[in-house]
Amino acid sequence: MSSDKPVRKAVFPVAGLGTRFLPATKAVPKEMLTVVDRPVIQYVVDEAREAGIEHFVFVTGRNKTVIEDHFDLQVELNDTLEKRGKTDEIRQLESLQPKPGQASFTRQQAPLGLGHAVWCARDIIGDEPFALLLPDMIMQSADSCLSSMVELHKKTGGNIVAVEECDPAETHKYGIIDRGEDVGNGFHINDMVEKPPQGTSPSNLYINGRYILQPEIFKLLENQRTGAGGEIQLTDAMLRLAKTEDFFGFHFQGRTFDCGSKEGFIAANVAFALWRPDMADNVRSEIEKLMAEVKPFERRSTERRG
Ligand code: G1P
Repeated sequence: MSSDKPVRKAVFPVAGLGTRFLPATKAVPKEMLTVVDRPVIQYVVDEAREAGIEHFVFVTGRNKTVIEDHFDLQVELNDTLEKRGKTDEIRQLESLQPKPGQASFTRQQAPLGLGHAVWCARDIIGDEPFALLLPDMIMQSADSCLSSMVELHKKTGGNIVAVEECDPAETHKYGIIDRGEDVGNGFHINDMVEKPPQGTSPSNLYINGRYILQPEIFKLLENQRTGAGGEIQLTDAMLRLAKTEDFFGFHFQGRTFDCGSKEGFIAANVAFALWRPDMADNVRSEIEKLMAEVKPFERRSTERRG
């Protein structure tokens, strides 16, 4: 049975190694790479806070302590800013920081997959529904993705997963759902499959990294067999949960940037700079200049070879 309790806690799985961004991620966690002037993880935590989340649960790993520092009070920095009269900066830092006792950190000791990372948060979450936000994905929209899902959850209860359309050639990279009948702003889910081999995907609606899940998922994850890529997959556990509990989809209509890929990360930097009133004009003119001046390097070298 679905619980009607409100969604108060959010899980952020931040244990991933970030090998796609080496050497940048040799000493710096990929979640701390900056988009404009704040780390990627800050966007995701802010989205959760805006959606009414009160407790932030980070599933970390080795070499990730800087994430914990980022969300802590920096006493020396605050003292220095105060001495210099930088009240705006102090206020900004304060508004981004979880209040005392609002953040928890636990470690995923081995890289066994997203399902295993979520399972590591079970004791901190306890017996209530929770949000799950994958930190690689950051979004732009009028109402944030998680806020809209929390609103939907107030009406439907149960479990909700957000989806978006992707290029049909990319479906093997994601969790994919098969859409059923509409329910208010959401819809029923007929099927879910993690990283379907090319040509077998039931649709091009991919799971975009925002979830509201009931605590019963933990029991299922406990005895979950490995799935795609030899990892314990959350999607496989969700499919099993959907057999006994309400499970809805929510079609997110904003822009999503996959900061787990270099192209997505660069696009996010440009898009978020263009969203900033203090930067938009200058950034736009820099981009226009670059577009006119910089020749595509690859094409030139191919032409030379040909
Ligand atoms: C994970 C999920 C997948 C989802 C994706 C979104 O995959 O398992 O269902 O579509 O995140 O980014 P990963 O990117 O960890 O391979």
